[in-house]
Amino acid sequence: MSVKYIEDESKFVLETQNSLYVLQILYDKFPVHLYYGSKDDLSGLAYVNPYKSFSPYFEQYGINYSPDVGMAEYSYFGSGDFRVTPLRIKNKNGDSVTHFTYKAYRIFDGRCDLQGLPFAAADGNTQTLELILKDSVSGCEIGLYYTVFEKEDVISRYVRVTNNSDSPVKIEKLMSLMLDLPSCEYDMISLYGAHNAERNFQRVPLFHGVQSVMSRRGASSHQYNPFIAICDKKTTERQGDVYGFNFVYSGDFLDEVDVDQTGNTRIQIGLGSENFTWLLESGQSFMSPEAVMTYSSCGLGGMSSNFHRFVREHILPPEPFERRPVVLNTWEACYFNIDEREMLRFAKSAADAGIDMLVMDDGWFGARNNDKAGLGDWYVNRDKFKNGLKSFVDSVKAYGIKFGIWIEPEMVNPDSDLYRAHPDWCIRCAGRESTLSRNQLVLDMSNPKVLEYLKDSFAKSFDGVGIDYFKWDMNRHMSEVGSPALAPERQGETAYRYMLGVYDLYRWFNEHFPNAMIENCSGGGGRYDLGMMKYCTQIWTSDNTWPKKRMKIQYSSTLAYPPCVMSCHVSNPHNVCENPDELKYRWHVALNGPLGYEMHLPNASEIIKDTVKEQVKKYREYEHLILRGEFHRILSPFDSNYYAYYFTNAEHTEFLLSFEQSYGESPVKLTLSMPEAEVGTRYTDTVSGDEYSGRMLADGITIKTKEKDPYSVMWHFVRND
Ligand code: GLA
Repeated sequence: MSVKYIEDESKFVLETQNSLYVLQILYDKFPVHLYYGSKDDLSGLAYVNPYKSFSPYFEQYGINYSPDVGMAEYSYFGSGDFRVTPLRIKNKNGDSVTHFTYKAYRIFDGRCDLQGLPFAAADGNTQTLELILKDSVSGCEIGLYYTVFEKEDVISRYVRVTNNSDSPVKIEKLMSLMLDLPSCEYDMISLYGAHNAERNFQRVPLFHGVQSVMSRRGASSHQYNPFIAICDKKTTERQGDVYGFNFVYSGDFLDEVDVDQTGNTRIQIGLGSENFTWLLESGQSFMSPEAVMTYSSCGLGGMSSNFHRFVREHILPPEPFERRPVVLNTWEACYFNIDEREMLRFAKSAADAGIDMLVMDDGWFGARNNDKAGLGDWYVNRDKFKNGLKSFVDSVKAYGIKFGIWIEPEMVNPDSDLYRAHPDWCIRCAGRESTLSRNQLVLDMSNPKVLEYLKDSFAKSFDGVGIDYFKWDMNRHMSEVGSPALAPERQGETAYRYMLGVYDLYRWFNEHFPNAMIENCSGGGGRYDLGMMKYCTQIWTSDNTWPKKRMKIQYSSTLAYPPCVMSCHVSNPHNVCENPDELKYRWHVALNGPLGYEMHLPNASEIIKDTVKEQVKKYREYEHLILRGEFHRILSPFDSNYYAYYFTNAEHTEFLLSFEQSYGESPVKLTLSMPEAEVGTRYTDTVSGDEYSGRMLADGITIKTKEKDPYSVMWHFVRND
């Protein structure tokens, strides 16, 4: 049992393999937080509510309980807690004050369905605690949910608001997770970035006041990832306490951290309030998206491995093929200059190199000869593919390879048949000019007619064609957010309803094309989040394929997400690089995730073609580790000039160790250790043929950096039997 109720103490204990979470119902009314951390002896654990002057209290309980201080499970706007609030609901009296008190609880196997949102799948061990609370003035009830994923050390949190009053209420802010911690001696880790430079690692000490990362862009965004971590100041890759948080959602979000007057820290993850309100009619419920948290005492690496297992076991869709395809993508080599003849040259060269799939990127549909026109017109361009898509795809498949295609369903160019027919199908505010970005507007995915049109046109174009893979792109953020299809009092629901529409279309693709996989993309990794991972097997990590920059992007992506989702391509678009060693470096860097190529392979020299063929073959020897192995970081490219990491299998009989140096420097010696190696046995590096003792691998092998760049080394150790 991972959820227990201790009746005589009114305590709930949530237990995972390596963590405990304890809460209590105080005075039969107030859910307070007692503990989240490792499995210590918790006897004597009691709620502390330090007195602070100016802090409001209820007459019956005096200063023993004030909502303003101490640790709570959830909080409410305007009723005595002055810290950041997770919930604000405007009631019929026009004020937004609530105070919810405990009514009942329920413990059940499994979890709740989140009504059109992505959420983590339950398994046989999953249990959920529901706390039901009520606010008599607004007439609302809330359900606080804690779903426990025991083996992965993850607890997920989500909130239901039900309007039991006889008039509508307006939800003005709703956070899925609130966690109070009894200290502020922490660092906060977050990932900031930009297009072409996603997920930079930032670690800063917490300070008194509110610190936050957020997106109000209609997408989780390149600029801030929804993942954050709070860790002890001494936490390293392998040691120390760390709490990791993430959000199973792909639109706007807010991660808030508030260090209060008593030195406690409040963490909140949710939709926020800037681009979200919801009119809740009498008798209706609203369910928040899911937020997740994990605790590890084994440093950042421990947190990552919890999240990696969780994403693989409970978020990602089933693998669509027996093995993950190595792709040849046409974008960097061709941009919009594609036609049947050229694409078949690509298909042949892919097949010759042992590549599994041709991915035809942008430019195949409508009047799409550049980025100014065509988005929304999802029918094949007959000037480029005179016999239509099916005949072309059959010819590709005749080479014995799979076929993937690029789409950007959520967007429209004003210069398109779709826009000319339905100018009111875009996100826009009445009477206001809509700003363009990449010459495009955002379709109103909250409008069922738009969804119907898209499903219909994709079915017409793709049914029976045998597409194995969709690269689903999203190349602008949302501005002037409003929906012509919604009433004025519901305009604040647009961005959220948009995401429900997007998820509906993703589910339709998964169901309508059950034999195809989806690679998500948003100008690279602009929607690199758990919501997308529910429907997509992998994500295009970044449009930046320059290895020296990629190292950083890939390092940080592995903090919260498993390498098996991180699409990594060797890029040599115009075959400028003729040096197999340089190409080997790019390949090494790309071996951090599922492999692909961005190059004009048909025009490449024989040397390059042979090199690619050899690389694909070698990748096959490692892919089981890259896609399914445990992943451990050793050196961070944010601390130094190098990135080092390894993959290992569950039995630790195999290690794939990678060292990558970004720039040349005066040589220094570094030690790369793999503590899981079995001491007392011997391993052979299949790359060099050299033998190593398990002790040597566990203590660390030494490597000398080079004056000349690029430089990288890879070892593949296999235990001698
Ligand atoms: C985005 C993607 C690229 C490519 C282009 C096509 O920028 O990130 O990989 O697909 O769109 O327009």
